[in-house]
Amino acid sequence: MSTSNNALFLEQAVQLLGERAVKTALSDLEPYCVDWRKRFFGKAAAILYPRTTEQVAGVVCLANQHGVALVPQGGNTGLSGGATPDASGTQVILSLSRLQAVRHQDPANKTLTVEAGVTLKQVQELADGMQLLFPLSLGAEGSATIGGNLATNAGGTGVLRYGNARDLCLGVEVVSASGEIWNGLRGLRKDNTGYDLRDLFIGSEGTLGLITAAVLKLFPKPAGVMTALIQVASPRHAFELLQLAQAKCDAALTGFEYMSAESTQVVIDHFPEVARHGAQIIGGILGGNNSMVAERSDSVLMEISHPESESAATSMLETVIGQALDQQIVGDAIVAQSIAQSSALWHLREAITLAAAEDGAQVKLDIALPLSRLVTFIDQVNREMLAAFPGVRLHNFGHFGDGNLHYNIGAPQHLAAGKSVQERRAIYLDYIQTHEEAIRRLVHDRVMAMNGSISAEHGLGQLRKAEAWRLKSPVELALMKRIKQALDPNGILNPGKVL
Ligand code: FAD
Ligand code: MLT
Ligand code: ZN
Repeated sequence: MSTSNNALFLEQAVQLLGERAVKTALSDLEPYCVDWRKRFFGKAAAILYPRTTEQVAGVVCLANQHGVALVPQGGNTGLSGGATPDASGTQVILSLSRLQAVRHQDPANKTLTVEAGVTLKQVQELADGMQLLFPLSLGAEGSATIGGNLATNAGGTGVLRYGNARDLCLGVEVVSASGEIWNGLRGLRKDNTGYDLRDLFIGSEGTLGLITAAVLKLFPKPAGVMTALIQVASPRHAFELLQLAQAKCDAALTGFEYMSAESTQVVIDHFPEVARHGAQIIGGILGGNNSMVAERSDSVLMEISHPESESAATSMLETVIGQALDQQIVGDAIVAQSIAQSSALWHLREAITLAAAEDGAQVKLDIALPLSRLVTFIDQVNREMLAAFPGVRLHNFGHFGDGNLHYNIGAPQHLAAGKSVQERRAIYLDYIQTHEEAIRRLVHDRVMAMNGSISAEHGLGQLRKAEAWRLKSPVELALMKRIKQALDPNGILNPGKVL
């Protein structure tokens, strides 16, 4: 795009959206030109804030006229650099965050229709106000938008029972790459009228169309939701516990998160108050024994949702844990006795990502495997990783029940012993930058050999694009390219991402 095209585009964007919706000052742009982890830094010519679907369509038409590339952005919490512009300074960020309307609430159909910029937390609250549940749940829900959740096909902690964002969406409204508005806001659970366009846009990371609104699927609220933190000696024990819990609880098992000892250690290192709070709660339950937080051990956070009551949920948890103790599958265990105690346990789990960011750079991975191969994978790759990169920290944790692990790797701690926080971060960054590609390849090669996926929920964005090219079959890549070419022939939408 030439500077004159750029200037004309911006002039017409101001006419369309108004001056206050077109920002070009560096200070307005900077926070949106970097990703949440601060691993991708770009430059943008402007950031635009349309308020309606028609305005979004108008912007896309202008972008086509002037050959301007648009980078869609919601809450900018993505973990793969998908919402960050490139370094050219010519791309324009199109924020969907001001599309805020609640279009329709239909309790009888158990659906809620909202625009793309409504945050996930707001959606959960709206559903709650309808005495229903929207079960998508993730650590960034206060800022992440429903448009971003659908564009990344987000997962989170409720997938085991309720599915990922794709499963929770019945219809979308989309502005195509040529500026047409497709109203696919149908609240239908069955609809076999040709190609599934909805599913094409969901998970396409802003490269095929702009999601401007969605019909979301709601569920009856369980009467009781309870959580337990359970010590396990190894991933194999976690797997055995999962088998037992699934057999006993079936659909009542709504969460099964694994945390390696090193992943909880990072919370203890950087957020001692979170760990302490967890320890106090746990101490309260166990009468002063808080060894589970103090000791280094792998653990599982298990959640049961019961249609009858909290006490029924608690008793179901206790039954499963009782049997697991009898069979020597688990060590110590803590069953929360209240919502507050449950929240404190979840807080420990959610704090891993924030504590890891505080620690410094990591190799961030997001793999999926058939459950039957997960344990072999962890044992084998842990061994190989430590042999190839002595001293690295295996911060792996995640949605074990879905076969999805964030098999993250931290730099060896001894490298920064006695250093200041700034020095430590620089040392870790240097180590990670030096070894990132080799570490990623080691993990991804094993994942592919076991018929897994290199991204379960975070998407390709910029982070995994090269790896997807390396590992996907030529046929799959060619089909993807043909879809992109058909839907976005001018390459206006999020160029350089995914493909
Ligand atoms: P953004 O980051 O703004 O954008 C993400 C991608 O979607 C980009 O490619 C962007 O171009 C595109 N996009 C955004 N909005 C639209 C739109 N309306 N139309 C078309 N394209 C669009 N993710 C999980 O899956 N599971 C988790 O458990 C999880 N936990 C997290 C915890 C923390 C602390 C953080 C920081 C992130 C976590 N994430 C998780 C990642 C992130 O929150 C999700 O990817 C989320 O869905 C992104 O939403 P967003 O609105 O921030 O999107
Ligand atoms: C999580 O499961 O906590 C998220 O996906 C974030 C992360 O991977 O760090
Ligand atoms: Zn996750």
